[in-house]
Amino acid sequence: MKEKLEQIKEEALAQIRASKTPEQLNEVRVSQLGKKGALTEILKGMKDVAPEDRPRIGALVNETRSEIEKVLEEARSRMEAHIRDARLAKETIDVTLPAENMNVGHVHPNMRALKEVEDIFIGMGYEVVEGPEVERDYYNFEALNIPADHPAKDEQDTFYINGDILLRTQTSSTQVHEMEKGKLPIRMIAPGRVFRSDEVDATHSPSFHQVEGLVIDKHITFADLKGTLSVFAKELFGEDTRVKFRPHHFPFTEPSAEVDVSCFKCGGKGCRFCKGEGWIEILGCGMVHPHVLEMSNIDPNEYSGFAFGVGLERIALLKYEIDDMRLLYENDIRFLKQF
Ligand code: DAH
Repeated sequence: MKEKLEQIKEEALAQIRASKTPEQLNEVRVSQLGKKGALTEILKGMKDVAPEDRPRIGALVNETRSEIEKVLEEARSRMEAHIRDARLAKETIDVTLPAENMNVGHVHPNMRALKEVEDIFIGMGYEVVEGPEVERDYYNFEALNIPADHPAKDEQDTFYINGDILLRTQTSSTQVHEMEKGKLPIRMIAPGRVFRSDEVDATHSPSFHQVEGLVIDKHITFADLKGTLSVFAKELFGEDTRVKFRPHHFPFTEPSAEVDVSCFKCGGKGCRFCKGEGWIEILGCGMVHPHVLEMSNIDPNEYSGFAFGVGLERIALLKYEIDDMRLLYENDIRFLKQF
């Protein structure tokens, strides 16, 4: 019996020595000391041992067991200490090293331009609102005096989701949503993304941004429009900026105009920047067409208003002297970081 126990012990110690991980050690514990282990087998066989020999054999089994346990425990703590040391060595940080550079984000030129435009109009008491990019034909065209067969619909070809739902071609659709709310007077600007099925080039993109403006109140005249846009141009491009209103046509305004500002580079003399013209076109505007008011349940005999639409990219390109719109969308950090 003594030899048998000696043999069990040797085998267990050999297995412990061969173990490389705490998991393997645990397997040794289970197979040697567990319910199905060799030592347990011997204890189970005690009933066949003569009663007078039982205490002696029992004591021998327990002794073997505690020797194996002792070695197991030593191996386990050695192994854990080793693992801990290795981890500490790997995770060492040198707190005296200089900190890594943190890259903080940067405001996009479009957003910078938008912030300037918003600040100017907020300063004049306007509210900033938003309308949906996915729009009903009614809001984008019909309610702005552009019925089904109107040629203006060709100029603003867009992406149709179905016959009635499309991606808006102009933020002017937001005018209709605001008028429909029935709360007067209105003094709002509505910035947002618009879409046209245009090819990409230096001045075109299938998706760009506009800022719409709308004022409706009693006694609003073309003089209010001129005064407002002239203040806007001066705040945006400088105190000496002059504005010029050229007659134009938009279906939803009557009369309509395009607005040029005097070139802020040459002051109007003509230079490379304004292509020798002295003037730079910046927006479209006009007095809200009485029929447009009527369609949104506003009485044109009581109320009148003006509207305007500015291309945001155009403002950003001009202000920050960028000569290709594609640069605004390519997300090249080297370019964007300059603004
Ligand atoms: N929506 C027009 C466009 O995209 C721009 C515009 C012109 C807006 C005149 C207006 C306006 O509100 O009165 O070309």
